Amino acid sequence: MPSAKITALGCYSPPGLLTNADLEKMVDTTDQWIVERTGIRQRHIAPPGMATSDMAVEAAKIVLAQRGIDPMTIDAIVVCTVTPDMLFPATACLVQDRIGAKGAWGFDLIAACSGFVYGVTVGAHLVMAGTHKRVLVIGSDTMSRIIDYQDRSTCILFGDSAGAVLIEPGEPGEGYIGHLNEVDGSGGDFLKQPAGGSRMPASRETVDQRLHYVKQEGQQVFRYATRKMFEMSRDLLAKHGYTPDDIKLLVPHQANRRIILAAAERLGLDESKIVINIDQYGNTTASTIPLALRDAVEAGRVQKGDLILFAAVGAGFTAGATLWRWAY
Ligand code: UT7
Repeated sequence: MPSAKITALGCYSPPGLLTNADLEKMVDTTDQWIVERTGIRQRHIAPPGMATSDMAVEAAKIVLAQRGIDPMTIDAIVVCTVTPDMLFPATACLVQDRIGAKGAWGFDLIAACSGFVYGVTVGAHLVMAGTHKRVLVIGSDTMSRIIDYQDRSTCILFGDSAGAVLIEPGEPGEGYIGHLNEVDGSGGDFLKQPAGGSRMPASRETVDQRLHYVKQEGQQVFRYATRKMFEMSRDLLAKHGYTPDDIKLLVPHQANRRIILAAAERLGLDESKIVINIDQYGNTTASTIPLALRDAVEAGRVQKGDLILFAAVGAGFTAGATLWRWAY
């Protein structure tokens, strides 16, 4: 079986910022509360008219330019998102058309904050199967479109961004090593967008009741996230004969600085081995991991041959971890 490696990485964040000071004017909150409870200082927010596919296309273009390849050579596009431009057609189809990836197939993957971890797992397996040579995996979410800016418990958390990677065949020992993914639908009620699907179609009542916005029981999600991020990371490392000491970096989903630090502490990981950039972006759902990875690469924290662990937990519940040997 050929190996699969990440060969390019690109991210896009819209320029508009929503700071904690801005939020202080919108809801009953303070900069101090937000920083202490979440670690977030600002979020990037898409301007009116900008949708998830627009950000995904920008991230994809960076990847194509970085690798210097013709979009016609892309075999498949996986767009991980919970904020598609519309329910259908899939955002992957919109991206395929816009970047000129003629002949590619693709689909959207709904796994909320675990989207990118699931997406690269799928992308790696398409390549390792030998049936695909170039798979574009994009995490893109315009969370500001489904956030209730009257609900202080959620509106402080989320931002908009996209991140993309290209997955291609690698040499033996390069790239993807393994994954552990798991869903637990019994936690589905704790974080959801209740209306707009077939259970509760959009109606005047659902709009009046603000049911198209994200609803979250924060403490329930917090408890699950802290436990699962640790357990999935620990078990995946053990499965492949590694210990936390072996990894160069944990690149975790950025939902809350306290979740990341708690999971890292239980793993026995020093803070120097964790990437945290939630202060700059907030929780951008499927794009937090590529954004954190991009920042780590640009800061020179990742070198060829390093062992990198991605871990995420999200609505569903979904949870996952995946281990890669960095290849460029
Ligand atoms: O990516 C996966 C998805 N999401 C997550 O992983 C999020 C997981 N959950 C969390 O990160 C945290 O639960 C939150 C950041 C959402 C909330 O933090 P918390 O420490 O769990 O706060 P809490 O919900 O227990 O609320 C504590 C207090 C409450 O007041 P009372 O009842 O003690 O008087 C809240 O009403 O803080 C209040 N509160 C706020 N106060 C100021 C809630 N939101 C705010 C706010 N500003 N924005």
